[in-house]
Amino acid sequence: MRVRRCAVVWLEPRELATFQLDDLLAGGTGVVSRLAWFAHAPHLGAAIEIDPAHVALLGAVGPVDWVGRDMLEARFGAEAVAALLALQLLLQEPGVQEQALADARFRAQGWHPPAAVAHMAARWEAIDGPAGMAEQGLDSNEGLLQQHGLPPPPESPVPEGAPLHALPRPVRDGFDALLDARTTCRNYDPQASIPLEVFSRIMARTFGRRGSGQPAPGFEVIKRTSPSGGALHPVECFLIVQRVQGLAPGLYRYRATEHALLAVVPQAAAPVVGDIGTRALSPGEAASAWSSESLRAFAQIAVAGQTFFADAAVLCVLAPASIAISGSTATMPRRIGSASSMPGTCRKPCSCARRRPGWGRSSPARSTRSIWSGRSG
Ligand SMILES: Cc1cc2nc3c(=O)[nH]c(=O)nc-3n(C[C@H](O)[C@H](O)[C@H](O)COP(=O)(O)O)c2cc1C
Repeated sequence: MRVRRCAVVWLEPRELATFQLDDLLAGGTGVVSRLAWFAHAPHLGAAIEIDPAHVALLGAVGPVDWVGRDMLEARFGAEAVAALLALQLLLQEPGVQEQALADARFRAQGWHPPAAVAHMAARWEAIDGPAGMAEQGLDSNEGLLQQHGLPPPPESPVPEGAPLHALPRPVRDGFDALLDARTTCRNYDPQASIPLEVFSRIMARTFGRRGSGQPAPGFEVIKRTSPSGGALHPVECFLIVQRVQGLAPGLYRYRATEHALLAVVPQAAAPVVGDIGTRALSPGEAASAWSSESLRAFAQIAVAGQTFFADAAVLCVLAPASIAISGSTATMPRRIGSASSMPGTCRKPCSCARRRPGWGRSSPARSTRSIWSGRSG
């Protein structure tokens, strides 16, 4: 039988501190800590503790070539190999279906390993932000200042003697008024609903497809009102719809192509008010649409207990649709000229020239081609 290591695993030495009454009663501080090793393997979804004795074995097997299990057992012992197979950090060939699938799915994404590990490690659930902050005395500016001191100044200071080049103060116009009207609202009226037309316009202007192109057969790119590296637009919008006139409350996925909503049947048990996390369906429990009460409870979970956001008529949940390919556009520097397309700064002819027949402003096909070929705009 042959084995190999999972696609990506990062190891973290971590100190774990726990309160132990015995230690306190024995005259100690009550806080007992120990050092442990944690493995972060993105195909597993959460970090797992491993035996320190197995660390060397993980470093002795690659993620690509299969090696003989007996050879590894001879070197590191059958117990260690069995333990890491059980933890799905080592995989056998032919694999146990489910284990092999999770690793294969991750490999197929081509996700930049540090980004995948960071994404997995930064996930959170069952958090009640306001309650946690209140518990720590951080729910007021005084409490924040007391515990964390002053935040950094909004701007780094001007070096002594450095000349400032004052810019002409712009004359305010309607667009400035629009920009200044933008604010984070924490005071939603739980009764108010959004007219369907308004909701539809917001969706079209924020996530909608504004154009599309096909730089190569089967290679489709879309254009939105926001730029995206490689025109990948790797984010999809799911919606918790609570109150839109003419639209049933529910979970939806926004389809930019059709400018339409796809109802999503949640694959989790219906949350109840007060839940701080979601629960899996019980065996045999059928997935079904949630009531308005469960939607509201889910909204509260999704915003980490921040009731003031959970009352919003609609909440957008941004989820990765595709994964940025490592070494691709995600890491390429952006230049002011093309990124901000300030009028008059492009070399002529340029795809961002206004009024291109049938396209709108700029052609992702052209810019994508130039990015893939390493030349700019
Ligand atoms: C990525 C991101 C996450 C945020 N998360 C929270 C949050 O969890 N709770 C909250 O009350 N505000 C949150 N905000 C809003 C900021 O607090 C708000 O933008 C900031 O106070 C500035 O206020 P303004 O948006 O009205 O200009 C978030 C903003 C951003 C961009």
